[in-house]
Amino acid sequence: MENITSSPTWYVSDTAFDWLYPERIQQLSKLHWTPMEVARKSAKFLASGSGKRILDIGSGVGKFCLIGAHQFPEAIFYGVEQRKELYHFAQAARERTASLNVEFINSNFTQIDFDDFDNFYFYNAFFENIVNEGQIDQDMEYSTSLYNYYTRYMFKALDNKPSGTRVVTFHSLEDEIPPSYQVVDATVDFLLKMWIKR
Ligand SMILES: C[S@@+](CC[C@H](N)C(=O)[O-])C[C@H]1O[C@@H](n2cnc3c(N)ncnc32)[C@H](O)[C@@H]1O
Repeated sequence: MENITSSPTWYVSDTAFDWLYPERIQQLSKLHWTPMEVARKSAKFLASGSGKRILDIGSGVGKFCLIGAHQFPEAIFYGVEQRKELYHFAQAARERTASLNVEFINSNFTQIDFDDFDNFYFYNAFFENIVNEGQIDQDMEYSTSLYNYYTRYMFKALDNKPSGTRVVTFHSLEDEIPPSYQVVDATVDFLLKMWIKR
């Protein structure tokens, strides 16, 4: 059930949410972290039912998970993030917001067992491998072959999930979505899409 009884300051707007982090992280917000309204709409779709386990693939500093977890206290939000520094910021924000139903994992998503989760959120995490600028940092190796490897890996993992599995994509090229998933809702600009496996 949606938590509408209390709204802490950090939950009221994107700017207020950004204050949970240092200025450098705030500056990445517009390009790299999910907008609050998108997070709320996505969480509502993914948490539908009871006790859902939702994984954010490439969770950054935890914005989608923290917003979703506040909105739906009966669901559990997990975020897997490859960058150690961002994972630490996510953990710190989890403590500051006293969020109990959120877990962050510092790992590449390929080390994660998709069987442990019901539904998935994906904000174009692999795109950094195929663009020349705009990356979060220059500390990683980027390549087209890594993009292909990650998208194929995710495609297979999603294809193995049971019928009824829900996925939300934001700004996706959709290379990682198997044809067994059907779009059931989308925003007018088609940047945000909600999928259910047949
Ligand atoms: C566009 S950001 C989205 C962050 C977060 N999901 C949100 O909506 O606020 C994508 C994140 O995915 C992470 N990422 C990219 N490839 C990854 C991989 N193979 N495994 C884990 N995390 C990855 C990046 O480090 C980045 O923090």
